[in-house]
Amino acid sequence: MARHFLTGAELSSEELAALIDRALEMKRAPLAARPLEGRAVALVFQKPSTRTRVSFEAGVFELGGHPLVLRTDEMQLSRGESPRDTALVLSRHVAAIGVRTGPDEMLAELAAHASVPVVNMLTAGHHPCQALADLLTLREAFGRLEGLRLAYVGDGNNVARSLAILGALAGVQVVVSSPPGYRLEPVAGAELVEDPAEAVAGANAVYTDVWVSMGDEATADERRSALAPYRIDDALLDRAAPGAIALHCLPAHPGEEISAEVLYGDRQRIWDEAENRRHAQKALLELLVSAS
Ligand code: CP
Ligand code: NVA
Repeated sequence: MARHFLTGAELSSEELAALIDRALEMKRAPLAARPLEGRAVALVFQKPSTRTRVSFEAGVFELGGHPLVLRTDEMQLSRGESPRDTALVLSRHVAAIGVRTGPDEMLAELAAHASVPVVNMLTAGHHPCQALADLLTLREAFGRLEGLRLAYVGDGNNVARSLAILGALAGVQVVVSSPPGYRLEPVAGAELVEDPAEAVAGANAVYTDVWVSMGDEATADERRSALAPYRIDDALLDRAAPGAIALHCLPAHPGEEISAEVLYGDRQRIWDEAENRRHAQKALLELLVSAS
């Protein structure tokens, strides 16, 4: 059985801690490990991407492998071939399969029939690779994870859910602050509050994501109005713990969920976070491929 990474809950706390350590090592020596030498990795995209595509493509290359970027509109998936048959065929050619799609059910079906590791590169429900990079960024900023407090302010979406799941595994207290109608469902270990000021009190990191995720375009206006009080700006950051950092998975909309002052200012680690996607995912691929 191949080891998959669909929600992040597949990892134990010990494995997650070791993965973050390994990502730090790989960041220091990016070309030292080549577990994908002579192997290809399929990267299947049903939605747009900048960071995920580039970080996986460059990361697979650095690990000695060949990335195959596949857009679903150019695959037989777009003409009705099943995720099951796609998984059976891709598994005969590649060492691992990354998938970005909407429905979590599509990813689950593909994983159920793949004999190589399947990695969630974002679904409507989860974005666990992002959370790995976020934890790596926290670890670099504070030298530890255990006992940190992270406040996520905004839409209780895929990014918030993955932070809650992986944060709990890493010993990070995650508090998610959203307005009614946009709340995350209860996730073990995560705190849910409505008031952003209450959420950020004592937080070491304040995190946000877009108000209008891919697939939510039809409700863009109502989202912008409901989420307007959930912007990260200097005033909100001032309410966090001394030395708190701002994080954002990107892409950002300065003036909406984050102010330009914070996005490009001294208190953010957002651009490090974007780089850390590559290092964290390389450590993940090494773990999954060596375990399978
Ligand atoms: N953060 C993130 O996943 O960005 P992309 O949509 O550009 O891949
Ligand atoms: N929540 C966003 C994340 C983008 C990286 C989306 O799903 O579009």
